[in-house]
This record gives sequence, structure tokens and C-alpha cells, in this order.
Amino acid sequence: MSQSVLKNARSAADIRAKKAAAPLVCLTAYTTPIAKLADAHCDLLLVGDSVGMVLHGLASTLEVTMEMMILHGRAVARGVDQALMVIDMPFGSYEESPRQAFRNAARLMAETKAGAVKLEGGTHMAETIRFLVERGIPVMAHIGLTPQAINTIGGYKVQGRGMDAERIRDDARAVADAGAFSVVLEKVPAALADAITSEIAIPTIGIGASAGCDGQILVIDDMLGLFDAFKPKFVKRYAHLSADAAEAIRLYAEEVRARTFPGQEHIFVDEGASQ
Ligand code: KIV
Repeated sequence: MSQSVLKNARSAADIRAKKAAAPLVCLTAYTTPIAKLADAHCDLLLVGDSVGMVLHGLASTLEVTMEMMILHGRAVARGVDQALMVIDMPFGSYEESPRQAFRNAARLMAETKAGAVKLEGGTHMAETIRFLVERGIPVMAHIGLTPQAINTIGGYKVQGRGMDAERIRDDARAVADAGAFSVVLEKVPAALADAITSEIAIPTIGIGASAGCDGQILVIDDMLGLFDAFKPKFVKRYAHLSADAAEAIRLYAEEVRARTFPGQEHIFVDEGASQ
């Protein structure tokens, strides 16, 4: 296993080498405790710009800033031991030019210790991906539904149906040819995801795509049932932590009002008084 900046962590090259091997397990993470829990089971942890929606209550990812990504990236780095940590480039930090993208990607990596960045876009971002990779920045691409583009796409719609499939295939080929080490396929028809997976030489990571992808990713708060403002079809809830938390808070409030909390086991006696 080659070395990344985080001592024992996988590198982008390690992930790239897992094409067509055992499926890659990926999750998002935004905090140290969750990163520690997920690191034990994951190949890759993404500090996703979804942090804006799931932790900061924003309506979309468009308002997420470099500062927010750096803060959460630093927190995640403290919890990562063996997974590759990838950090999202926020909206507005890379689209202007390859040089702008390099400046911000280098800052994200230097200030958070992430081993790679992720950016959204296919054919039109290929030049930028190549520019970054040639200068030492591993890039994970993200095509299909690209949430930073909802205003031009017109919402969180499935991408690549019918005649539109060729556009997504072109995107996949372009980012692979440009040197991305892997590509997220979000919300594309399963047959298209399977075709792309067999066509390109880098691992495809599906979210709302196909079990045939080289790996899968979910937003951690979605799969834990912590974020329940809405549930996309592609999310499977493996726990219902929001409901558990609501019940715990209700019980606490009840016990405080009934003066049954704190109990004897939670309070301190003045030992000096008995001497
Ligand atoms: O920001 C994010 O969490 C993502 C994943 C959904 C892939 O980009």
C-alpha cells in the first residue's frame, strides 16, 4: 500500500488500483467521532459539501465555503487512520480556471491533510482535472447528478436517460482520460452505470447508480437516519438515530421536570462533612 499524508492511510493510487476488485466502501464524514467509526470499515471517507445541508441546515450545497470545508476536513483528519480522505471543492472554488482550482485544491489539501479532492463536472472540467493531476493533486470526479449545478439542471433529477446517456458516457471518458483516479456516478440509470463501469479504466463509485459499480458511497447522516428532512430513493437507512435521539431528549425532559434526574448515582456528597 502506498503512503498518503495521513500516516497509515490509503492513497488515491491504492483506490485506483482497486478497479474491478472487491467493491470499494465509501461514506461521507464531517466530524472526528464519525470519522473514527467509519474509518474502521471504509476504503474512502469523503468530506462532502453535503455538510452544508446535513449539518448546517442550508437549502443546497451552493452556500458552502472553503472555510467550512477546511474546518470539517481538519476534524475528519483527526479521526482517520487507514481510509483515503477526500475533500470536496465547494461551489465557486474551481470552475473559473485551472489556476483557481489549483490554488484552492492545494489549500484544501495543505490545511486538512486530505489525500485528494473531489470536484463536480465531466467534459467541461477535464482540462482542470488534468491541470491538477499533473501538478500533484489527485482528483475524484463527480458526474451524473451534480448537486452544485441544480440551478441549471433544474433540480435533483436522474441524469442520462434515453438519448442523454451518451452525454454521461462522454463525461466518464473525459474525466478518466484527464487522469481522475475515480469517478462518482450520481443518480444515473443502472444499465448506464454498468456500461460506464465496464468502459473506463478507473473505479466508478455509485450513489443512486448500480450495485455493479466498483464501489458505493452514501451520505453518512442519510444512512444512519440522522438527516430525515427528506429521503432520496437511493438511500437505505441502516439505523434510525434521529428517532432515537428525539426519544432520548423527550425522556430527559420528562425526568428533569419530574425531578427524577439527576439520580443519587449522578450527584456528589460532601465527604468532608462526615469527618
Ligand atoms: O457532498 C457529498 O456528500 C457528495 C456525495 C453525495 C458523493 O458529493
